[in-house]
Parts: sequence; C-alpha cells; structure tokens
Amino acid sequence: MIDVNGTMYRDLTKILVTREEIAEKVRELGRRITEDYQGKEPVMVCILKGGVIFFSDLVRAIDLPVSMDFMAISSYGSATKTSGVVRVLKDLDKDILNRDVIIVEDIVDSGVTLNYLKGMLNHRGAASIRIATLLDKPGRRRVKDLKVDYSCFNIPDEFVVGYGLDYDQLYRNLPDIGVLSPGVYEKGE
Ligand code: IMP
Ligand code: MG
Repeated sequence: MIDVNGTMYRDLTKILVTREEIAEKVRELGRRITEDYQGKEPVMVCILKGGVIFFSDLVRAIDLPVSMDFMAISSYGSATKTSGVVRVLKDLDKDILNRDVIIVEDIVDSGVTLNYLKGMLNHRGAASIRIATLLDKPGRRRVKDLKVDYSCFNIPDEFVVGYGLDYDQLYRNLPDIGVLSPGVYEKGE
C-alpha cells in the first residue's frame, strides 16, 4: 500500500478523506444498497475511469447477486473545468431494459454528465435508475434537480485527486483523497 510520504503526495496541499474513512463509508453504503434492493438483481454500472476504484470496493460490500457493466463518457479533457459536452466513449455491453440500474460515479460536480447519462439510460427502458457517488460537490451544481441517491462524502469546491479521481490521468492510484496543489494544474492551463 502506498505510503503518505510517497512522491505523489507531495503534489497535494492536504489529505481530505483518508483510506480508513473511505472504507468505513463504502461498507455502510454496501449495507444500505443490500437492504434497499432485497429480492432484486441490480446492474451496477461503473463510470470509467474515475469510478473504478470505488466501484470495485463497493460491489464487494453488497450482498446481492449484482451484475456489472462499464461505461466511459467524457465531459472534461484534461482541464479542471467542465466543457458541458458529453460524449459516450464506451457503451454498456448488455441491454438494461426492465433492469434496476445503479450508476456508480466518482464525483458529482456540475451534474451535467450524470444528468445526461440518466436521461439516456431512462430512454433505454430501465426499471429504475439510482446514482451512487463517492463524492459530491453540492456547491458547484448546475443541474439543480438532479437526485443523488447515495453519496459518501460532501466536499467543498476544491479540485481533488486519488481513489480513482485524476488530474490529467494521474493520481488515480492514491489510496486517499487529497486536494491537488493549484501549482500542479496551473502549469497545464
Ligand atoms: P460534472 O458533469 O461536472 O458533474 O462532472 C463530473 C466529472 O468531472 C467527474 O466524473 C470527474 O471526472 C470530473 N471532476 C469533477 N470534479 C473533479 C475533481 O475535483 N477532481 C477530479 N475530477 C473531477
Ligand atoms: Mg469521471
């Protein structure tokens, strides 16, 4: 396991959520989903790539016969602000007609990406769609009526990396979540 004195940690101004805090919340969320979906076989949809670490921990905390599918969408590029343009880079493998879908995302920021995605999966005839996110930045929401069903942590409006979240594809493998030093991304803007 990567130590907090490692090289990647030098690019953080602080650690916002520790690996222990994450593990505790993920266990809790797994229990909640297990209760809420008793008798059902939900499809867990991982939003690549940011959701992948959270997803792999979360599915193992759910005591139900879940299936897994993966989707990649893009609204960002390498910058730290949303472009508002959403593109499907990789679509689901399986049909979701009449299925109970749980979308697993790393972070809800403006809400543009998830709002678009939810509309699309709805259109394909899912029986139900819920959103599970690791992080939520409610202060940045542009889609005001987007319902976030399950959220582990509300965070302030700061650019964070780690536990799946990246800056320019890096830092996803940090076990903790930290605030990226502005000096790192200002260089790239
Ligand atoms: P939204 O459409 O603005 O809600 O965009 C959400 C997406 O933006 C997430 O899936 C992330 O990929 C990215 N994002 C938003 N805030 C952060 C952040 O603080 N760190 C890393 N990625 C972020
Ligand atoms: Mg993402």
